[in-house]
This record gives sequence, structure tokens and C-alpha cells, in this order.
Amino acid sequence: MSCLPRMMRFWALVSLSVFAAGAIVEQVEDLPRAKYDFIVVGGGTAGNVVANRLSENPKYNVLVLEAGASHEGIEDLEIPFYCPRLTPYTEWDWNYTTTPQAALNDRTFPFQRGYVLGGSSSVNTMTYTRGSSDDYDRYARVTGDSGWSWKNVQKYLRRNERWTLPADNHNITGQFEPSAHGYNGVMSICLPGYPQTSDDLILNATATFPDEFPYNKDLNSGNPLGIGWCPSSINNGSRDSSATSYLGPKYIKRRNLDVLLHAHVTRVLQTGTSDGKRSFRTVEFADSRTRAPRKLLKARKEVILSAGPVGSPFILLHSGIGDSADLSRVGIKPIVHLPSVGRNLSDHAVAPVFWLVNATNTLENWVRDPVFAANALAEWRAMRTGPFVDIPFNQVGYIRVGDKATLKKYGDPSAGPHAPHVELVINNGIAGKTVPPTGNYFIIGTVVVSPSARGSIVLNSSDPFVHPEVNPEYLNSELDMYLMREGIRKAMRLAEGPALKAYLGGPPLYNPTTDAEMDVYIRSNGTNLHHPVGTASMSAKSAPYGVVDPDLRVKGVSGLRVVDSSVFPFIPSAHTMAATYVVGERGADLINQAW
Ligand SMILES: Cc1cc2nc3c(=O)[nH]c(=O)nc-3n(C[C@H](O)[C@H](O)[C@H](O)COP(=O)(O)OP(=O)(O)OC[C@H]3O[C@@H](n4cnc5c(N)ncnc54)[C@H](O)[C@@H]3O)c2cc1C
Ligand SMILES: *[C@@H]1O[C@H](CO)[C@@H](O)[C@H](O)[C@H]1NC(C)=O
Ligand SMILES: *[C@@H]1O[C@H](CO)[C@@H](O)[C@H](O)[C@H]1NC(C)=O
Ligand SMILES: *[C@@H]1O[C@H](CO)[C@@H](O)[C@H](O)[C@H]1NC(C)=O
Ligand SMILES: *[C@@H]1O[C@H](CO)[C@@H](O)[C@H](O)[C@H]1NC(C)=O
Ligand SMILES: *[C@@H]1O[C@H](CO)[C@@H](O)[C@H](O)[C@H]1NC(C)=O
Ligand SMILES: *[C@@H]1O[C@H](CO)[C@@H](O)[C@H](O)[C@H]1NC(C)=O
Ligand SMILES: *[C@@H]1O[C@H](CO)[C@@H](O)[C@H](O)[C@H]1NC(C)=O
Ligand SMILES: *[C@@H]1O[C@H](CO)[C@@H](O)[C@H](O)[C@H]1NC(C)=O
Repeated sequence: MSCLPRMMRFWALVSLSVFAAGAIVEQVEDLPRAKYDFIVVGGGTAGNVVANRLSENPKYNVLVLEAGASHEGIEDLEIPFYCPRLTPYTEWDWNYTTTPQAALNDRTFPFQRGYVLGGSSSVNTMTYTRGSSDDYDRYARVTGDSGWSWKNVQKYLRRNERWTLPADNHNITGQFEPSAHGYNGVMSICLPGYPQTSDDLILNATATFPDEFPYNKDLNSGNPLGIGWCPSSINNGSRDSSATSYLGPKYIKRRNLDVLLHAHVTRVLQTGTSDGKRSFRTVEFADSRTRAPRKLLKARKEVILSAGPVGSPFILLHSGIGDSADLSRVGIKPIVHLPSVGRNLSDHAVAPVFWLVNATNTLENWVRDPVFAANALAEWRAMRTGPFVDIPFNQVGYIRVGDKATLKKYGDPSAGPHAPHVELVINNGIAGKTVPPTGNYFIIGTVVVSPSARGSIVLNSSDPFVHPEVNPEYLNSELDMYLMREGIRKAMRLAEGPALKAYLGGPPLYNPTTDAEMDVYIRSNGTNLHHPVGTASMSAKSAPYGVVDPDLRVKGVSGLRVVDSSVFPFIPSAHTMAATYVVGERGADLINQAW
């Protein structure tokens, strides 16, 4: 009895079946066992996939250590339309801030990361875009492992995806390609479930400009070029995160799967040697509420770092695995010289183009008008329908930009001919935490999805509770600024579609035209999109750089892998969640095969 969590002790009196169940507990004393085969650090997007798949084998005991709290029973985390409320600087955010960004007028930006079970999948915008076939084929090429190719990751995409109908049950024929999807996976994916006035206007523009902006029936087929309906990870009108799906009731009841919340992992420690390498199978952690005392747990088989693109390199560095000179500078004893840890950070920047529209049917209503907001909330609560079932955009577009000569001069940063340089995120209004008190808007967010600039995450202190310096170097290359200018021009061109043009009634609120005006605009209006990757990058087994092998084992040590979005050697030319689920699924498969 004494090892059961407090809440569960009561229920144990009611039902003896609780003795057989796995558990989500809040105190280390409440864990049902002391020894685990696998310890997953971080119960985020990829971490919960790994925990789910490894615990399919009843012989393995699996523990997840998550620094944040539970996601359960929090309505804000369930309502898709509320996603902008969840970060930054809230109880569900790690609250990182970037260093001053040179290309963006030395402004600093909140660098959002989910601090809750489900990680960033519990706080993100839920857009489900896989990227292009070329992105995955490039991963296969640079790592020398064909297992990462588009063809070979299909089975992982399908293990992840369960295609469902949108909340309004509308006829989705022609809005997706059935053969591109999975129907038996763990996480629900669906198309938007509430119509917006802009929907037809955008489809009109695709019909008007079939060469520049072709209608793409399915953005997730491997060829995302064009404009199409944007799916998201929503289940019957509510967010589906890795916590609600991969740790859902039918999985978390497995007796060999446990989750400890409020467990802030500070380091991994050497446990001896195996195969002539240092073995790192002990994790050190503290209660994140009290930050003390430090506890140790040893994995029989492996420790899997799934703490995300800040957390995973952060833990490696604190463990003495990183650039030796950098570590010595902050007073950490270097143990394994692996200079790529925290380097090659790649992220997406966005510059919004705004129009003021002469209409009232825009997203601002549901944020600033108390009657609209109350009605929408009541409808969501009663039926899981209405405007709150969706994220703030129904369509996105992926385009290639730039002329041949310029791309040749700089080197084309995209993964190949199917990969876009720029994404257009099309919003029928502003749906932020706060919105302007008056005015109705139309916005096209222009995102450089194939950036060339690379940044870094470096330690500023040997204290594992002090944030690292996060420098994404947003748009800090001539090429990235060029791609952004060309992207903004495309966004403005799309707005010339006759139906959209009539709706918008005039030029954008700010209407830069020359390159110089564009640059001024981008530097002052540009911001970030929360897709960091690359800080524990995969590389070929023989490569002189990189942090993990193609099988996600940390180079030069044993017993330790990184399985999360830090491993992408190039940023997917899309929102990064879908590709992260692929890493989780394949990572788990590789671990299962190894044992
Ligand atoms: C605000 C926001 C909006 C986004 N919108 C989208 C979108 O619409 N579509 C899309 O595709 N992508 C989106 N993304 C990006 C996407 O969510 C991420 O790329 C993806 O979820 C990353 O998964 P991960 O497993 O690498 O890390 P995470 O999901 O962040 O998981 C890391 C986990 O580790 C835990 N952790 C970290 N350090 C420690 C430690 N020391 N000890 C214990 N636990 C630790 C964290 O609390 C977290 O739970 C968004 C991200 C954010 C933040
Ligand atoms: C982030 O800030 C919020 C608001 O101050 C706080 O509640 C939360 O605990 C902070 N997150 C972390 C990881 O400290
Ligand atoms: C959905 O639309 C398609 C094409 O527009 C049509 O052929 C089909 O019958 C419709 N399905 C239903 C269930 O109405
Ligand atoms: C960054 O990645 C490139 C390959 O894209 C590689 O050549 C370089 O060595 C990496 N840098 C570090 C510090 O890992
Ligand atoms: C806005 O639309 C209304 C009704 O369609 C019209 O009467 C009005 O003139 C328009 N105003 C502007 C500034 O276009
Ligand atoms: C969706 O949610 C509503 C409201 O809770 C419920 O009535 C309905 O049965 C659910 N539908 C599905 C398919 O789960
Ligand atoms: C890093 O530490 C220095 C010196 O203590 C401090 O001035 C700086 O603000 C810190 N940077 C960050 C990002 O915390
Ligand atoms: C696009 O909209 C314009 C203006 O409303 C209309 O004349 C045109 O027929 C539409 N084109 C298509 C292909 O729907
Ligand atoms: C966006 O750019 C315009 C034009 O350059 C400028 O007037 C405006 O202040 C900028 N917005 C912000 C938030 O800086």
C-alpha cells in the first residue's frame, strides 16, 4: 500500500484492480517499483511515443520522467481555438527567451516549449504537416541510413495517424487524398471543422492562378507544393496530444508503464563501461517544485533523452558531454568531447502581412466580443462543435521562390524540387491571446521553411536550473532575407485573386515594395514560429560532426539515445510535430530491435 500514490490509496479500497495498473505519480516515493529497463527523460511529443511502444512488451518496465505537471482536466489545453493562450510565460511554458536577434533589430523573443505532460504537443497549434518527400530523403542521404527515407517512414506515419472526420462532419471528398493517410494509428488527425468566410476566397485564388498557387488536394502526400486544407491533431473537437493519445487510458493502465511528474532531470551519469565505451544509464533528477534533493535512478537497458531541442542538449552538456572548452568555461568537467551538442540550431521565422477588411465575420470576434466568445464556448462544451474546434487557420500554402541565378549563387537550401522555401499561413483574422480593440483583419503569415542560418544553445552556468543562452539566428543570412522578401511578394500576389481582392478592398496595412522597404518591414515585424531542431543532430556513423548516429545513439558512449526533434540535421520544410512523431515511432522501433 505505501508505495501507491496518495490519491490512489483511497481508490485501492474501492477497487483492487489498481494494484495491476501503471501509474502517473507526483512523488518519487509513489512509484510502484524501484528498477526500470528503460528510462525516458521528458514526457513530451516523442517521449510518450517511445514509452508507449517500449511498454507494448510486457517484459520491459518503462519509466517516464517529466519536469512539468499533468495535462488532465485543464480546459484551456483541450480547446483548439485557445492554443494562443497557452504560451509564452505561463505555467505550461519553460519561459525561455532568445538572445537579441541580429537580423531582427536585436529584438529578443519568447522561445516557447511545453512544460506539461505531452510537452509541446500539449501547447502547440496542432498543425499536422509532414513536410516533403525530399526532406526525408535528405535525412536518409546525409545519415547514410535509408530507414529515414520518405518511402521507409510511411509505416511510422501510419502508426501515428488515425484519420478522423472533422467536428462538423462535412463532406471532405476532394479536400484530401485517402491513400496518403493512416486510419489505425494512435493520434487523431482531421481537417478543419468550422467554415471561415475566407475559405472560398482562397480556393478562388488557386483557380485563378493554377501555375503560381495550384490547389493541392493533399499537403501530406510527400508533395506539399500548392495551397490546400490544413489538417491538425484534433479528436472530435479537442486537442489530441502525445499525452491524450499515446498515454491515453488504454495504454497508461499497462502495469509496466509509469510516469513521474515534477521530475526535473539534471544529468545523466556514467555507470561503468560497455563495448569499450562509457555507459550512461543513471539519471539524476530533482523535484522541480522544490529543486531538491537530487535522486538517482539507473536503467537496466537504456536511458532515452526526449527532453526536446533545448532540454536534450541541455542535459547532455550538464553531464559533461559537449564541447570541452565550452564546458570548462562554465565549470563543468568535460567527459566526452562532442562539439556538436547544442550547435546547428535551426528554426522558422515568420513575417505576417496584414490587411484590414471591411467585414465583421473574422476571428477577432471570438476573442474580443464577450457574447461571441461565450456562445462559442457554450457550443464547444455542449457539442464539441462551432468555431472553437479549430486552430486559427484552415488553409496553408507551400511554395518555391527565387530565381535560378540567385539560388545558384547562394546554394538552394531546400531539400529538393518537392520541398518549399516558403509557407503561407492564411488566417481569417487575428486569434491571439489579445487582439486589437477594433478592426477586422486578414493575415498571411510568410514563413521561411528552408532557412540556411544556424544558431546555438550554450550553457551560461553550471546550475541546471539556469536557462541556457538560446540564439536561433533568425533570418541571419542574406539568403534567408531574400527568401522572406520573395515570400512576402507571393503573399501579396495571392491576394490579387479576384474574390480575395474584392474582400480585402485594398493594399496591405503596411505595403513595402522595394527590397529596402521589405527589409525594414521584416526586421521590425518578423517573429518566430517555435519549430527549433538540430541541437543533437543525426549524422552518418563516420561523420566528424553530429551528436547521434542514424540509430539515435549518442556518439562515443553507450546506453544513451536522443529521440526527439533535436535529431533533425535539417529542419523539415513544414511544421515540425508530424516529423517528430516519426522520430518517436522509428526511435522506439530501433530500440526494440536492439533488444
Ligand atoms: C507554441 C508552439 C506552437 C507550435 N505549433 C506547432 C504546430 O502547429 N504544428 C507543428 O507541427 N508543430 C508545432 N510546434 C512545434 C512542435 O510542437 C515541436 O516541434 C514538437 O512538439 C517537439 O517535440 P519534442 O518531443 O522534440 O519536444 P517536446 O514536445 O517539447 O517535449 C520535451 C519534453 O521534455 C520535458 N523536459 C525538458 N527538459 C526536461 C528535464 N530536464 N527533465 C525532465 N523533463 C524535461 C518537457 O517538459 C517536455 O515535456 C509548436 C511548438 C510550440 C511551442
Ligand atoms: C514560467 O512562468 C510561469 C509564470 O510566471 C510560471 O508559472 C511557470 O512555473 C514558469 N515555468 C517554469 C518552467 O519555471
Ligand atoms: C461527398 O462529395 C462527393 C463529391 O462532391 C460526392 O460524390 C459524394 O457522394 C458525397 N458524399 C456524401 C456522403 O454526401
Ligand atoms: C553543422 O552541420 C553541418 C552539416 O549541415 C556540418 O558540416 C557542421 O559540421 C555542423 N556543425 C557542428 C558544430 O556540428
Ligand atoms: C463596407 O461595406 C459596407 C457594406 O457592404 C459598405 O456600405 C461600405 O461602403 C464599405 N466601406 C468601405 C470603407 O469600403
Ligand atoms: C464528440 O463529443 C460529443 C460531445 O461530448 C459527444 O456527444 C460525441 O459522442 C463525440 N463523438 C465521438 C465520435 O466521439
Ligand atoms: C549569461 O551570464 C551573463 C553573466 O552572468 C549575463 O550577463 C547574461 O545575461 C547571461 N545570459 C543569459 C542568456 O542568461
Ligand atoms: C473568382 O472570383 C471572381 C470574382 O468573384 C469570379 O468572377 C470568378 O469567376 C471566380 N473564379 C473562379 C474560378 O471561381
Ligand atoms: C511593421 O512594419 C511597419 C512598416 O515598416 C511599421 O510601421 C510597424 O511599426 C511595424 N510593426 C511593428 C510591430 O514593429
